[in-house]
Amino acid sequence: MRREENELLTRTGPGTPGGDLLRRYWQPVFLSAELKPDRPESIEILGEKLVLFRDETGAPGLMDILCPHRCADLSFGRIEDGGLRCLYHGWLFDRHGRCLDQPAEPPDSKYKDEIRQTAYPCVEAAGAVFAYMGPGEPPPFPKFHFMEAPEAHVFQNKIFHACNYLQGNEGNMDPSHLSFLHANSLPRGGKAASEGELHKVVHRAIFDDTRPSLQVEKTRYGIRIYAERKKAEGRKLVRITNFVFPNFGFFSGEDQRYGEGGYSVHWHVPINDTSHWRFDFCYHSREKLDKEHMLMRITQELDENHVPYRQASNRYMQDREQMKGKSYAGMGAYFAAHDLYAVESAGPIHDRTREHLGQADVAIVASRRMLLDAMKNLQDGKALPFTLETPQDNRFNDILVISAEMGETDDPRQFCRKVIESGDFHAIK
Ligand code: FES
Ligand SMILES: [Fe+2]
Repeated sequence: MRREENELLTRTGPGTPGGDLLRRYWQPVFLSAELKPDRPESIEILGEKLVLFRDETGAPGLMDILCPHRCADLSFGRIEDGGLRCLYHGWLFDRHGRCLDQPAEPPDSKYKDEIRQTAYPCVEAAGAVFAYMGPGEPPPFPKFHFMEAPEAHVFQNKIFHACNYLQGNEGNMDPSHLSFLHANSLPRGGKAASEGELHKVVHRAIFDDTRPSLQVEKTRYGIRIYAERKKAEGRKLVRITNFVFPNFGFFSGEDQRYGEGGYSVHWHVPINDTSHWRFDFCYHSREKLDKEHMLMRITQELDENHVPYRQASNRYMQDREQMKGKSYAGMGAYFAAHDLYAVESAGPIHDRTREHLGQADVAIVASRRMLLDAMKNLQDGKALPFTLETPQDNRFNDILVISAEMGETDDPRQFCRKVIESGDFHAIK
């Protein structure tokens, strides 16, 4: 990779080609449950300092944090009279950025009508606040299954990462690391005792064949990745995962208790160029999720600000004893902690000119190409991928997350087509 390309891929602030691109898509910015009615939050997304708040109706608003009057911090403001009021001189803004009141100006002044604070449209879904930070009308809000699922079927979380968003996201397109980094904390083989235990057998191949053959297929939403691993007697395991443009992935989650039909989404949103949030959405179409268990794991691993206890400063609490047979990485059982080590340790902004990529990195290479091409298209005023122009575009029966056993010579692409044609695999039935 050339240095200029790495710059393009990793810079996301306002006015950068990469930042312009990410801003054309809805992005999660906060967890709904943490946005309290009476407490505006000071947040940073894509290098922009913003205030996120709920107005008196509970609707979320996201605006530039500096008051357009004399630039005091609006996150200290008061929620009242239909919006957020600046503490300094009382200017009042609704969540669309309109200035409703300027109580220190003459009573007949129309000055407030000339003032417009930068404000970004927000939507709440899947227990998170999503924002559109691009120009013009926002594109349709994506109706992924997890966005529309009843609360019991979706769990959400976020994890602070002290590194550029792209290195986090590229970990989503890297099936071969499962055989190493996460090894020993995946459930191990044996006979399936029940439907829910199916995965324990399926995943055996992840350890037995550490050289998956990868195929990538460009799709309308991004990239479908097929990772094939040999199994005994002319059989193979095919895991289908996905890069969804421009900055998230759909794949089978860490929690394997539920069997097929569900997935995890890791959505990597820049805070700035050297840190990001990984928003996690865990979804299952057929099972209600054991949220108590999920929360318990999270509170063991993350502090109240969603910062992992395992971090670079304590060497991710690596335990060499644990590495003797229990865990490959020696960093406990939580996959996110392993991934955190892997993606953060490349540095705050991974210098991709130092890499030596192999065949196992084919999906990562394809995704970089896709991002660079889209940046160019955006600069040239050409069409972007995955913009959901028709209602049909906003249906996602083609984003499949499946681990399937099949015959050695079977074509996984054909298998995938059949699943897509036969209905909506991830829909709640
Ligand atoms: S600085 Fe906000 S009202 Fe004056
Ligand atoms: Fe991982």
